[in-house]
Amino acid sequence: MRVIFYTGKGGAGKSVISSATALKLSELGYETLIISSDPAHTLSDALETAVHYTPTKIVDQLWAIQIDPVREARESYGVIQEYVVSLFKSKGVDEVLAYEIAALPNMTEFVSLLKVVEFVESNNYEVIVLDTVPSGDALKNIYLPTLIGSTASKVIKFVAPLVNIARIAEPIVGLPSPGKEVIKQDLKLLEILKKLKNIIADRKVTSLRLIANPEAFSIQNLKRTYLIANLYDINVDLAVMNKIIPEEVSDSYFKEWKKAQGEYMADLEAAVHPLPLKKLRLFQSEVKGLKLLSAVGDELFGDEDPAQIYFEGKAINVRESERGIEVVVPLPSASKHKEVCEVEREGEDLSVVISTDIGEVRNFIPLPAIAHTMKLDKAKVLNDELHIYFIDERWKKGRK
Ligand SMILES: Nc1ncnc2c1ncn2[C@@H]1O[C@H](COP(=O)(O)OP(=O)(O)O)[C@@H](O)[C@H]1O
Ligand SMILES: [Mg+2]
Repeated sequence: MRVIFYTGKGGAGKSVISSATALKLSELGYETLIISSDPAHTLSDALETAVHYTPTKIVDQLWAIQIDPVREARESYGVIQEYVVSLFKSKGVDEVLAYEIAALPNMTEFVSLLKVVEFVESNNYEVIVLDTVPSGDALKNIYLPTLIGSTASKVIKFVAPLVNIARIAEPIVGLPSPGKEVIKQDLKLLEILKKLKNIIADRKVTSLRLIANPEAFSIQNLKRTYLIANLYDINVDLAVMNKIIPEEVSDSYFKEWKKAQGEYMADLEAAVHPLPLKKLRLFQSEVKGLKLLSAVGDELFGDEDPAQIYFEGKAINVRESERGIEVVVPLPSASKHKEVCEVEREGEDLSVVISTDIGEVRNFIPLPAIAHTMKLDKAKVLNDELHIYFIDERWKKGRK
């Protein structure tokens, strides 16, 4: 079983590349499902077939599904949504706004992730390819499950990062308590989230692939995503630079473009090394229909099997240290981290802020259970690694 996510800025080529990957996989004989939650229906455009809300057959071994996140969220998690609205309201948020927040623009991505669990469990497919929505923070939703604890009150913790209202997660005092139905659904949700987490954390199953165009912003976005993926222990196995003007285009009009693209290419190559980087040329037209998708698949993968794990990056490592434990988070060299790095404890998670040349990256790292009873000592960035030290107080006492 393989689950492959494609991420990148809007327009980078996620829909095209994920469709081309899925098509290639089906040609190789894998029973393949491609999932999209993009409300713009780009999947139907790329595949030139109406893709429905249930798996739609495209060709032999290839299925596609367009998820309607709003419907999905309402059907499966409506009660929780109501509860979240009541929480916001109790915090003094205007009712209309509360509903808007609880409708969760970001929830869309999230619901399609929950669907992944369903399809993985169905065992109907050998590879699932995800065409993610063009949100810079799309990845947040992928690692979010790792932040969820248990009990209904944590729902708020799960919603807060989605809507970027971290404050809401403040001490939960005097908030309405969830009803039975909410708790029941909440437990179901937590169950699914746990499974999702296991799927995503399994580096033999899930790979994240990063797509960028040869443009400054697009590349920054890629580097940032790469860093965040490392913080969340998600394996990134491939990067793709898409829409490169081919060598043979000699029109002087494109001279400056080509020069800049060459420079961006070199920059990215050096930055993501040793992560494999594939290049895809800018085609002569938009990429629509199976014929062109097949051509993209051939140019990208040739005789290779796109289901392979192209690269296994280092995982987060927990080891015993002299006084407790040390958590080592590998950081990709894609970003030049300055020495500034703040680490704070927030319950069972660590809040981490790393300043880099691509801006501040702020995230949570779920702590290994063994660290729960230990004291956070210090953290530092050393040779592209974030080292976090915990002291075991009991150990100290024992020595005295
Ligand atoms: N290599 C390419 N050559 C030509 N057109 C491309 C290429 N990659 C993507 N496109 C076109 O660029 C647009 C955006 O691509 P799309 O895959 O929809 O991006 P995303 O899903 O990341 O928003 C589409 O019109 C698509 O056909
Ligand atoms: Mg798209």
